[in-house]
Amino acid sequence: MASFFQYLLLLLFFIAYFSSSAQSSSRPKSSFRPRALVLPVTKNASTLQYVTQIHQRTPLVPLNLVLDLGGQNLWVDCEKHYTSSTYRPARCNSTQCSLADASTCGECNEPPRPGCHNSTCTLDSQEPHTGGFATGDVGQDVVSVQSTNGFHPGRNVAVSRFIFSCTPSYILQGLADGVSGMAGLGRTKIALPSQFASTFCFPRKFAICLPSSGSKGVVFFGDSPYVFLPNVNAAQSLTYTPFIFNRSSSVPMFAKRQFLSEYYIGVKSIKIDQKVVPNINKILLPADKEGFGGTTISTLYPYTILKTSIFKAVTKVFIKASAAWNITRVAGVAPFEVCFSKDNIGSTRLGPAVPTIELVLVNNVGWPIFGANSMVPVKDDVLCLGVLDGGEFLEKSIMMGTYQLENNLLQFDLDSSRLGFSSLLFGRKTSCANFNFTSATAE
Ligand SMILES: *[C@@H]1O[C@H](CO)[C@@H](O)[C@H](O)[C@H]1NC(C)=O
Ligand SMILES: *[C@@H]1O[C@H](CO)[C@@H](O)[C@H](O)[C@H]1NC(C)=O
Ligand SMILES: *[C@@H]1O[C@H](CO)[C@@H](O)[C@H](O)[C@H]1NC(C)=O
Ligand SMILES: *[C@@H]1O[C@H](CO)[C@@H](O)[C@H](O)[C@H]1NC(C)=O
Ligand SMILES: *[C@@H]1O[C@H](CO)[C@@H](O)[C@H](O)[C@H]1NC(C)=O
Ligand SMILES: *[C@@H]1O[C@H](CO)[C@@H](O)[C@H](O)[C@H]1NC(C)=O
Repeated sequence: MASFFQYLLLLLFFIAYFSSSAQSSSRPKSSFRPRALVLPVTKNASTLQYVTQIHQRTPLVPLNLVLDLGGQNLWVDCEKHYTSSTYRPARCNSTQCSLADASTCGECNEPPRPGCHNSTCTLDSQEPHTGGFATGDVGQDVVSVQSTNGFHPGRNVAVSRFIFSCTPSYILQGLADGVSGMAGLGRTKIALPSQFASTFCFPRKFAICLPSSGSKGVVFFGDSPYVFLPNVNAAQSLTYTPFIFNRSSSVPMFAKRQFLSEYYIGVKSIKIDQKVVPNINKILLPADKEGFGGTTISTLYPYTILKTSIFKAVTKVFIKASAAWNITRVAGVAPFEVCFSKDNIGSTRLGPAVPTIELVLVNNVGWPIFGANSMVPVKDDVLCLGVLDGGEFLEKSIMMGTYQLENNLLQFDLDSSRLGFSSLLFGRKTSCANFNFTSATAE
């Protein structure tokens, strides 16, 4: 009964809050309502993190943020240089705190400033690269991003009271220089996709297209088209698979919060050159009662990480299949174990000519992974299979990392709870670097 009332209350808050925030943010922009938004994303070659940029505060300042697909919210360093006339702390027990699922009430003994107010609810943020934790005030401020029609960027639009967590600076340690926080794209109510969708009344869908190093890729919020030069709507080549979110509720609180934010897909089996990798189907499938297992998609890990038993089984079959292609194995180059001489490896539009790895998903659709996403050049004459052994006690069976996602368009549809994936866009003669970032001057 109590939980039903809490739920009802939350729902009412949610409706009231977002209808008011949608009104207030569209007021100064007259009647313009964007159909979608667009953010640029680049790969930092030294940290291998994906970095995006938004504008925040009054007056607006650009912020570089590491993209965190499964992240619960936006968090920003408020300790250094946070000046804004529009910052508001979220009072304990307010609507904002409920939306943020932040029930802890914080005090601050220093003079008030963003990130330090009395009677403000707080959230714990984790920087996943170092594992560092920080408690930050929940706050609200203006966030401005570019709208898009799917073909190129349009005018900037603002969310006047974007909810985020205001953290201390020390938590930035593991992030690339010049970055001041992380942009969470998870399934929570205050992650970027839900706040943008609620504010501008567009579907709770977003898409990421991660570029390789040295070029600019794109994140879309809202529905397709997602058009890449020369006029390829990558949304037309999506294959869909349902998300699998049925982990037991007995997992510890923090792990549970993270679980409730992340994206899981159901990998049923793995094929290499059409042959099923034996003896792993039982380990692959979703989350057991203790909450272990399953396959997540992450933007935080540069390479896919596999539980040891899966790693061994997959690499064994891959090595055998490569031998059948007359590809010569050479010594591993850290962090990779399975490497090959480039001598006998041809090159194709889809990257190095190597055996194709295919993830067979729960609804029997296949996600093929070609050479461009499987082979990492490590030296002039050596290519390595870009997957890592995560140990037998890895919490998940498979954590898909960014190298395997590059130049694939992935659409996360929160309303229909499904993932759309394009597979390698090179097959359609385009890439994630081909979004036209030149704004139309008329807008
Ligand atoms: C928030 O709610 C809790 C319990 O519902 C209550 O104990 C607390 O005093 C409230 N805090 C504020 C600042 O209203
Ligand atoms: C905040 O709360 C602390 C502890 O309750 C108190 O000492 C301090 O004066 C308060 N600060 C402000 C600005 O009210
Ligand atoms: C990438 O990260 C490194 C290490 O933090 C930093 O020195 C470098 O400036 C970053 N590169 C770009 C292009 O931001
Ligand atoms: C999890 O969900 C999948 C697909 O929705 C289902 O086949 C499976 O039985 C579920 N597992 C548990 C433990 O509920
Ligand atoms: C591999 O080499 C063998 C012997 O040289 C040859 O018969 C076979 O056709 C080659 N296979 C491929 C796939 O190139
Ligand atoms: C990119 O978009 C701009 C604005 O609409 C347009 O003027 C330009 O021609 C486009 N570039 C290409 C290569 O199509």
